[in-house]
Amino acid sequence: MESESSRRLIRRRIAIFASLTVFALVCVGVVLWMTGTQARASIGGPFALTDQRGKPVTDADYRGKLMLVYFGYTYCPDVCPTTLSTIANALNALKPAERAQVAPMFITVDPERDTAQTMADYVTNFAPDLVGLTGTPDQIAKVEREYHVYAAKVPAADGSYSMDHSSIIYLMGKDGRFRAIVDAGAPAGKIDEAIRANL
Ligand code: NI
Repeated sequence: MESESSRRLIRRRIAIFASLTVFALVCVGVVLWMTGTQARASIGGPFALTDQRGKPVTDADYRGKLMLVYFGYTYCPDVCPTTLSTIANALNALKPAERAQVAPMFITVDPERDTAQTMADYVTNFAPDLVGLTGTPDQIAKVEREYHVYAAKVPAADGSYSMDHSSIIYLMGKDGRFRAIVDAGAPAGKIDEAIRANL
């Protein structure tokens, strides 16, 4: 009798332990799923900026196209021109019908120096269809927040400054929603892979 009841007690403890474990795993799963969805959902958002022709534009103007978005500044000595060259190579490797569905854009993190004219002179160095976007400091700060972009002024000894900034390529869907991130250091083929997966 005694051993029967202690076996029952052990079985019950095992059952309780097993259900607690399952419950804990489900909780962890739900939390991970929620964080993942929120992080994805929170990248990007509406913007109102000025293109390199001085024309006011919003994100809605690019609906129906994939937005390939990169943030940087025209005075950037190395990372921005390198990344924009990679983006240009990626665009050139697309078939014309594919490329027509992509709106590549370079958004400045340095609106103080990057006027529409400065952007116009700069973007043509890379791709004829590269859109250069600038805006007021408030407009730029808003779009930076939406894309979780880090950008900070670094004063130089000669009184000028450079911008320290995050370097990520964002792919937004034809509906304007976040699709993928490509590391700026990745080869052009990675960008095309992400584009083709979302056409
Ligand atoms: Ni840069």
